[in-house]
Amino acid sequence: MPKVTIVEDPVSGKGKTVEVENGTTVIRAAAKVGVEIPHFCWHPGLSVAGNCRMCLVEIEKMPKLAIACATQVADGMVVHVNSEKALNARKAVLEFILINHPLDCPICDEAGECNLQDYTYSHGPGHSAFQEAKNKKPKRVPLGPNVVYDAERCILCSRCIRFMDEIAKEPTLTFVERGDRVFIDTFPGKELTNPYSMNVIDLCPVGALTNREYRFKARVWETSSTEAICTGCARGCNTNVWVRNNEILRLTPRNNPEVNNYWICDNGRLNSFRHVNSAERINSPMIRKDGTLQEVGWDEALAHAADALKPFSKDEVAVLGSAYSSVEDNYILQKFAKQILGTSNIDFLRHEVSGDEDNLLIRADKTPNALGARVVGVVSPKNVDSPRIFELIGSGKIKALYVMDDEVAVTKDIEDLLAKLDLLIVNSWVSSKTTRLADVIFPSATFAEKYGTYVNFLGRVQLSRPAVSTLEQERVPGRFNMSRLDNFGSAFDRWNKGPRRNVRSSWEIISAIGNLLGGKMRYQSAQKVFDEVAQSVPAFKGLSYAKLGERGASLSEGAIGKKTKEEALVR
Ligand code: SF4
Ligand code: FES
Repeated sequence: MPKVTIVEDPVSGKGKTVEVENGTTVIRAAAKVGVEIPHFCWHPGLSVAGNCRMCLVEIEKMPKLAIACATQVADGMVVHVNSEKALNARKAVLEFILINHPLDCPICDEAGECNLQDYTYSHGPGHSAFQEAKNKKPKRVPLGPNVVYDAERCILCSRCIRFMDEIAKEPTLTFVERGDRVFIDTFPGKELTNPYSMNVIDLCPVGALTNREYRFKARVWETSSTEAICTGCARGCNTNVWVRNNEILRLTPRNNPEVNNYWICDNGRLNSFRHVNSAERINSPMIRKDGTLQEVGWDEALAHAADALKPFSKDEVAVLGSAYSSVEDNYILQKFAKQILGTSNIDFLRHEVSGDEDNLLIRADKTPNALGARVVGVVSPKNVDSPRIFELIGSGKIKALYVMDDEVAVTKDIEDLLAKLDLLIVNSWVSSKTTRLADVIFPSATFAEKYGTYVNFLGRVQLSRPAVSTLEQERVPGRFNMSRLDNFGSAFDRWNKGPRRNVRSSWEIISAIGNLLGGKMRYQSAQKVFDEVAQSVPAFKGLSYAKLGERGASLSEGAIGKKTKEEALVR
């Protein structure tokens, strides 16, 4: 294993020595000791192109500067990252790149998170010797339904081309023209329609590729960014949720080598938060009075739900959990069903789109937590699964149903069956066919409004954090700053000033009803619920929010069924 010394401080000349594997490049060796070497074309998830020259460093005993992204370390190598020679070279590279780069920063979406902007501040020459007119190139070119290209801003690093080639496996982008006329384009007549196309936006180190939907919506410094999990399918890609005035404006991928690397699919990025911002959100508990649903206070709705459940025997009630909802919500629901209602009529609906999956990220199961719901016990010990529950509703044996965070009226037949019930209680984010038939509705918090964990199809337990504030946060502030595991506090205080929704986490709603029915379900926070899950469900043994951290942790051995294990091997 070669040893290499990385010298960051040119004044002291003192370096950090690190032992790395044969074949490691200088840029990666430096990263290992926490030294970032400026770069544009290099990206840890792509092959090395070595075309921008921003990563030039001085290496002892080498006659010329070398590019850190392509140079492999050798034993005893000493790398000077910020020597005078290296800094001058970087200055020259930036001056060269800026020759034709337009001064679009005041109107460019990338401003505030632009590598070129940042490096110009930290390494740029501060002046330009260029007197001539800048090149004119195509601007505002839609490359596909979701991506817009500005050729004047492009620094020709080829990250986007390599992504389409190496990761998306659909080489749709290429360089066209020569010399200072070069720009990126698709093949004539072709569009950038790949389901992963929008990753090129994150990859682009400048503002040349922008998100068609997000364009000109916000300055990045006006938004907060919170670590969450995409709820669009069973992969559970790691994300950052960007919020301004309590509205989610965009979602970007967050690196997790165990789950999604640096990527996310376009559908997850664009659609997995639509319901959070939806105009169809329910903003108050409701109960049916004289045939119509009327808004009431929380206490009245909770008491009404508890009283309404009392007359039914254990065989007459059923509960449907949700593969969309968190481990905490599902755990509390099954506990409520088994210990308070005493029923074994318990299940959740699967939402699979057969054939809509691939070998990269997208899964046919369009829910984030089917495995989690199953492992915490939202399946009947007597196998009274959902088809059977609907059958029993049809035959009049089940008379009361509790539905949590799911649209279960997926067919007209089910809708007709729900209409037959004597009592239908629903926790829901948005109004739906199911809520229209309900007798009691509780507005529940979405993934973006609460702490919650989700188990992906490989058995990875991941913590999602609240990005959007609600009245629950005002009512129980301690619940939302119980730990400094994240950046929620500061971002939240500064930017989440929009109207707050009157929603509560499903685990809280259900445990409140449980308590009114004589149970002892007193939890201060989702974290406390999770601690109980870790103690009582063997698959979660030893886990805690702190252990899950930013990248999650695996369920313990044996918790994953045979099929998911096979899937894991395929991956
Ligand atoms: Fe690089 Fe962006 Fe230009 Fe693609 S569009 S080559 S990612 S600068
Ligand atoms: Fe090394 Fe571009 S990052 S040459």
